[in-house]
Order: sequence, then C-alpha cells, then structure tokens
Amino acid sequence: MTNQCGRLAGKTALITGGASGMGKAAAELFAQEGAQVVCADLNDAGEKIAAQIRESGAEATFVRADISQTPDCEKIVQTAVQRYGSIDVFYGNAGISSHFNFHEMDIESHYDRVMNVNCRANFVLTKLILPYMLKQGKGSLIFTLSVNAEYGMANGASYSASKAALKQLIKSLALEYSALGIRANGILPGLIRSGMTVPGGPIEQAVLPFVPMGRAGEAREIAQAALFFASDDSSYCSGSMLVVDGGQSSGIRPQIEV
Ligand SMILES: NC(=O)c1ccc[n+]([C@@H]2O[C@H](COP(=O)([O-])OP(=O)(O)OC[C@H]3O[C@@H](n4cnc5c(N)ncnc54)[C@H](O)[C@@H]3O)[C@@H](O)[C@H]2O)c1
Repeated sequence: MTNQCGRLAGKTALITGGASGMGKAAAELFAQEGAQVVCADLNDAGEKIAAQIRESGAEATFVRADISQTPDCEKIVQTAVQRYGSIDVFYGNAGISSHFNFHEMDIESHYDRVMNVNCRANFVLTKLILPYMLKQGKGSLIFTLSVNAEYGMANGASYSASKAALKQLIKSLALEYSALGIRANGILPGLIRSGMTVPGGPIEQAVLPFVPMGRAGEAREIAQAALFFASDDSSYCSGSMLVVDGGQSSGIRPQIEV
C-alpha cells in the first residue's frame, strides 16, 4: 500500500525513462513515498510498471513518448497536468549511449540522436514544466548525468558531451530559479546495472576493474539519490551534483603495496 506519510506525499513526479533501469526504480520508490507518478518512455513496458504501481495502491500513469520529439514532450506535460493538476518533481532521466570511433562518427545517428535524447529533451521538458513550478512557487528538477559528465569517454564523445552539457543546464537553472523556490540538481552514476549496462556485458567488463567497491550499482541505489533531491530532505541543495559510483571517480587507482 502507499505510504501516505511518505516523503513525497501529495506530490506529482514526472520521470522520463520510467520503463527500465533507474527510471523504473525511481517510479516505484517515488510511488512508495506517496507521489503520483507519471512515467514517460518509448518502451511500452512502462504501461505494466504503472499498472503494478496502481495495483499496490499508489497512483501512476504511463505516457508513451519519444522525448527527442517536441510534440511528444508537450503530450507528456499536458497529460501530467490534466491528470494531477501540476508537476512538483521533474526527473529527467532517460538517456541513450552510443559507441563509435570519433573519425567514423555519423553525425545524425550518433551525435544528433544522443544530444537530442540526453540533452535537448531536458531543455524542452524543463521549459514546458517551469511555468507550473513558478506558479506554485516550488519544484524540484533532477537530472541523471553520468560520471562521464566530468571525464572524457573514448569511443563515446557524444555521450560524454551530452552529460557535461546537462551539468551546465543544472547550474544555470540553479542560478536563475533557486530564489523562486525551484531547485535543480544532478546525479552522476557510475556503473549501474540496467537496460543500458547488463550483467557481464562489455560495459561492465570494461568498467568494473576501476570500481573500488568491486561491484556494479543497482538502479535502486540511484533512485534513492533521486528521492533525496525530490524530497524536502535536500531543501538547501540546488546546483548540486551527487556522484554515486562506488568510488570510481575518486581518482586513478595505482595501488602501492604496503
Ligand atoms: N547504466 C549505467 O551504468 C549508467 C551510468 C551513468 C549514467 N547512466 C544514465 O542513466 C540514465 C538511465 O539509464 P539506465 O541505465 O537506467 O538505462 P535503461 O536503458 O535501463 O533506461 C533508459 C530508459 O530510457 C528510455 N528512453 C531512451 N530513449 C528514449 C526516448 N527518446 N524517449 C523516451 N524514452 C527513452 C528507454 O526506453 C529506457 O526505458 C540515462 O540517462 C543514462 O545515460 C547510466
């Protein structure tokens, strides 16, 4: 059953990429904490997740949408507002990766596609959502970046650049809107098991040796960070970047035997 005394009781949370991985985990956790959840995703699996949340006694709506398309972004926001009245939390989480040798990069399918989904969509959705948050004088904007927002990525320049751009979106929003009650924060995950990074797959094999904790993170461990930013627990955080990476980005790791 829904926890009506939860940390997000009475709030409406819009989550992109809610059909899988971190977005799915956040949808389930936010609903447990009392939020009305709107999951937007390309993947129809989001319908089942919303249904399961409703069966648990909480409230959820799935919107099938491609966030790289502006009309779909409008549809997501309209659906949320028509159904629940406003939007208190926006979690811009959907993202895609793309791996290529830079000199062989195809601009349309590699660069444009990654930037449109990971970056442009969050600009569009934030612009559409802000008027509702401004009207109520409060709101929380959260974005899933990556440790690659801070570091380059061989064979993944578009991905790394798209996440670095989000960091400056967050910082700019924090400067512009914090005084008006709207906070903007980012989460920088490291290696997390999800649809993007499957157990034993090539990404996990390449990255795991550099994770001091020696394991990949679980989607729920990112959802907990998102809950922190969504709730009043983070009432003095705006423009913050929370790294959740098992220690991966603490530094290079030559270890001197003692
Ligand atoms: N998994 C990792 O190791 C890792 C690490 C750092 C950052 N991230 C970031 O975490 C976020 C969540 O990814 P995840 O790991 O949970 O992967 P995931 O593939 O499990 O989930 C991503 C979701 O986004 C949806 N999506 C993709 N393109 C979309 C579009 N155009 N419109 C609507 N929905 C779309 C997918 O359908 C999917 O449900 C992404 O932004 C990703 O870049 C992931």
